[in-house]
Amino acid sequence: MAVRGNRRGAPSRVGLTALLAVALELACPAGALENGLARTPPMGWLHWERFLCQTDCAQEPRQCISEKLFMQMADLMVSEGWRDVGYQYLCIDDCWMAPNRDKQGRLQPDPKRFPSGIGKLADYVHSKGLKLGIYADVGNKTCAGFPGSYGYYELDAATFASWGVDLLKFDGCYYGTLELLAEGYKTMSRALNKTGRSIVYSCEWPLYQKPMQKPNYTEIKQYCNYWRNFADIYDAWKSIKNILDMTSFYQDNLTAIAGPGGWNDPDMLVIGNFGLSWDQQITQMALWAMMAAPLLMSNDLRHISPASKALLQNKEVIAINQDPLGKQGYRITKDSRGFELWERPLSDGAYAIAIMNRQEIGGPQAYSFSLTFLGNGLACNPACSIQQILPTSRHLGLHNWVSFLKVVVNPTGTVLLKIVVIEEKRDVSGSHSLGVL
Ligand SMILES: *[C@@H]1O[C@H](CO)[C@@H](O)[C@H](O)[C@H]1NC(C)=O
Ligand SMILES: *[C@@H]1O[C@H](CO)[C@@H](O)[C@H](O)[C@H]1NC(C)=O
Ligand SMILES: *[C@@H]1O[C@H](CO)[C@@H](O)[C@H](O)[C@H]1NC(C)=O
Ligand SMILES: *[C@@H]1O[C@H](CO)[C@@H](O)[C@H](O)[C@H]1NC(C)=O
Repeated sequence: MAVRGNRRGAPSRVGLTALLAVALELACPAGALENGLARTPPMGWLHWERFLCQTDCAQEPRQCISEKLFMQMADLMVSEGWRDVGYQYLCIDDCWMAPNRDKQGRLQPDPKRFPSGIGKLADYVHSKGLKLGIYADVGNKTCAGFPGSYGYYELDAATFASWGVDLLKFDGCYYGTLELLAEGYKTMSRALNKTGRSIVYSCEWPLYQKPMQKPNYTEIKQYCNYWRNFADIYDAWKSIKNILDMTSFYQDNLTAIAGPGGWNDPDMLVIGNFGLSWDQQITQMALWAMMAAPLLMSNDLRHISPASKALLQNKEVIAINQDPLGKQGYRITKDSRGFELWERPLSDGAYAIAIMNRQEIGGPQAYSFSLTFLGNGLACNPACSIQQILPTSRHLGLHNWVSFLKVVVNPTGTVLLKIVVIEEKRDVSGSHSLGVL
């Protein structure tokens, strides 16, 4: 018995050609933004959902958007182990700027809240082995009313590069017309490239375009490393549900485009805040891993429960999110009780499977499903080993292709599994303890 590296034994000639084609495609993904970045979904921390636009440091010294806040988060990202599990980008959102550009027309930080300047903050963040993200807007103003980049794309890109910034979240408020929106996102992408600095480029282009026009994801991926499709997340189960429902509704379009260098962004992780129950936090973590989503936490690392921290730092879940194959997962069924079954193809022929219980009444419910159809019939063929990853890690043993698996899922919770195919040398139906859980 051996864990298989590729599908269905020795590849045929046709299989080899197909493998070669896949390898070539992976080596130079057709039309992805060629900055060499975001080969797996970016991970880090972004201030918006938790800290919003608090600018009053006199009244709210610990909550206001200031260099102190980012330095504290940088310290904690290192001392509390966040960096070591992969959370690397420490990202500033809106409200860092002074109300006006400087005499040379450059953006400048608010002098009271960022007295040392962004360049010094970037140095500090880099000294911790982290990277710094910043925020700007394609239009005349940012969403909170600070100076927009319209008319200044090249200058702003050059300014960010001179400060040592590593990621730009480029918002779309006050975009003018759809033509200016598209032109702005493309121009900023070229301007970032021209700086010569490696800067991850996060777009909200499809989000602003969608109400009027179908996004052309092929084009968006040529310019952006990841992009928002749906409205801002907020700290409630309703928001998580909306994002999951929208994502599965458009999943054919969204999964087709995601891959190394370009990702769909369902927005920040709100785990560790106030609005989600424990099971709902598990659901967000599991499904963000299934969706190959950027993992950008927006929480207060100074005040986070050990349970939420362990969930966010769960290495098995992060490994699924960061799987090098870079295929986004999708929903395969939804039943009348509200159970959803999602799958995500992983490298080496493995699969991640998520079973979500959407019922919001009652207690834990059993869900039984056939392994035969997972991965188009290949995930467990002829047999597989199943590891439960969430809500707790445990080995569920070996199973054969025709088995059913039964899991018990709490209301609004999720069970996350990893399935590794097993090549049986002997008849599977033989003496092994394969079979039903
Ligand atoms: C700029 O784009 C070119 C080709 O598109 C690419 O080879 C290069 O690495 C990019 N540079 C940066 C800094 O992103
Ligand atoms: C920004 O404002 C100027 C002057 O009012 C206007 O010409 C331009 O179209 C605006 N740009 C956008 C993107 O709205
Ligand atoms: C989408 O963009 C791609 C790349 O720019 C282009 O080749 C294609 O024609 C566009 N599709 C549509 C429907 O406009
Ligand atoms: C999704 O993709 C299909 C097939 O390419 C296309 O016809 C459809 O317009 C797309 N839908 C959206 C919302 O982009």
